[in-house]
Amino acid sequence: MPGAATPPKPMLRALAGEAVWPPPMWLMRQAGRYLPEYREVRAQAGDFIALCTSPELAAEVTIQPIRRYGMDGAILFSDILMVPWALGQPLRFAEGEGPVLQPVRDAAAIGALDPSVCRANAAPILETVRLVRAALDAHAQKTTLIGFAGSPWTVACYMVEGHGSRDWATVRGLAYADPALFGTLIRTLVTATTDYLLGQLEAGAEALMLFDSWAGSLPPSQFRRWVIEPTGQIVRNIRKVNTTVPIIGFPRLAGPLLAEYAQRTGVQALGVDTTMDLRWAAQAVAPSQALQGNLDPQALVAGGMALETEARSILGAMRGRPYIFNLGHGIEKVTPPEHVSALVRLVRAG
Ligand code: CP3
Repeated sequence: MPGAATPPKPMLRALAGEAVWPPPMWLMRQAGRYLPEYREVRAQAGDFIALCTSPELAAEVTIQPIRRYGMDGAILFSDILMVPWALGQPLRFAEGEGPVLQPVRDAAAIGALDPSVCRANAAPILETVRLVRAALDAHAQKTTLIGFAGSPWTVACYMVEGHGSRDWATVRGLAYADPALFGTLIRTLVTATTDYLLGQLEAGAEALMLFDSWAGSLPPSQFRRWVIEPTGQIVRNIRKVNTTVPIIGFPRLAGPLLAEYAQRTGVQALGVDTTMDLRWAAQAVAPSQALQGNLDPQALVAGGMALETEARSILGAMRGRPYIFNLGHGIEKVTPPEHVSALVRLVRAG
C-alpha cells in the first residue's frame, strides 16, 4: 500500500491470502487465568459476567496479552454465551463447573426469545470494542482487533442443555425430533448474531471469528443443516453491509467436513483444531483461504523440547501459504506464562 500512513497489519495481510513470514500469531483465550494480571482484574470485577460487561476492565484484560507478548491479534474479551445473556436467558458462571443457563427447550421458551434486543443489551461489550480499538490506534499498534461470536449450533448447544455436556444428547435429540422448533432457535441466533457482529464492526473490530466448538458432534447431514447453513447465512448477512471484513470460521472437530464448510460458508479463513493434520487441511481449503491454529495447548503447558518440536512442525507445514499461528483450542489455565514467551520467540524467528 504505497503512501499509506501505516503498513497493513500482518494478521490482516495473512487473512487477505498473503503468505506472511514469520506468520502473525495470537492465542485463543490469551487473556485468561494463566496470567497473574488477569486474575487481579478478574478479582476486582467480582464475577465473570461483571468483567465482560465492564468496558474499562474488559478492555484492560483484552490488551494485557498484547502488552506482555506483542501478539498480532487482540481478541475482544467477552464470551460466546453473552449472546444468550443479551437475549435475556439467565446465565451464570459457576466456580469450577462452567456456565449454567436456564434451558430453553419448548415452543414457549424458544418463541419468547426476541433477537432484536440483543444488540442494545450488548452495548457494554460494544463499548469495550471501542475502547480497545482506540487504545491500539493510540499506540499505532500493528495488532488486529478481532471481534467474535459463537456460531448458532454451539450457542444453541448451551442454550438447550443449560450447561456443558459430553455428548450434547438433549440438543441433538431436539434437532431430530422437532427440526421446525429447533430451526426457530437457530434463526433467532442467526439474526441476533448478525446484528451483534455488525455492532462490533461499527465499534472498530477489524476481523471476525465464529466459534463452533461443538460442530464435531454432528453427522454430515446435521452438520450441513445446523453448522454450514446458519454460518453461511451470517457471513452473507454481514457481506450485505460490509464486503471486506475478513471472517474466520472455526468448526472444531469437523474432520473431513472442513472442506465443505470452507467451500460453502464463504469464510476467508479456517481455524484448525488440534486433531487435524495441517497438511491435509491445506489441500482441503482454497489456497487463498488462510489457516489458523492447530498447536496442542498441552504442548504449551509442557514447554521445552516438546513445544519446540510441535511448533517447528507446524511452521514447516505452513511455510509459503497464508497462515496465522495459534493453538487448536483455548490456552490451559495451568500454562506457565514463560512458555508463551518461548513460543513467541520461536515463531518470530520463523
Ligand atoms: O480468547 C479470548 O481470550 C477471548 C475471550 C473468550 C472467552 N471465551 C473468555 C472466557 C472467548 C473467545 C471465549 C469463547 C468460548 N466460550 C467458547 C468457544 C471456544 C472454546 O473454548 O471452545 C466456548 C465454548 C465458551 C463457553 C465457556 N466460557 C465455557 C465452557 C467456560 C467455562 C470454562 C472455563 O474455562 O472456565 C467459559 C468461561 C470463560 N470464557 C473464561 C474466559 C477467560 C473463564 C472465566 C473466568 O475467568 O473465571
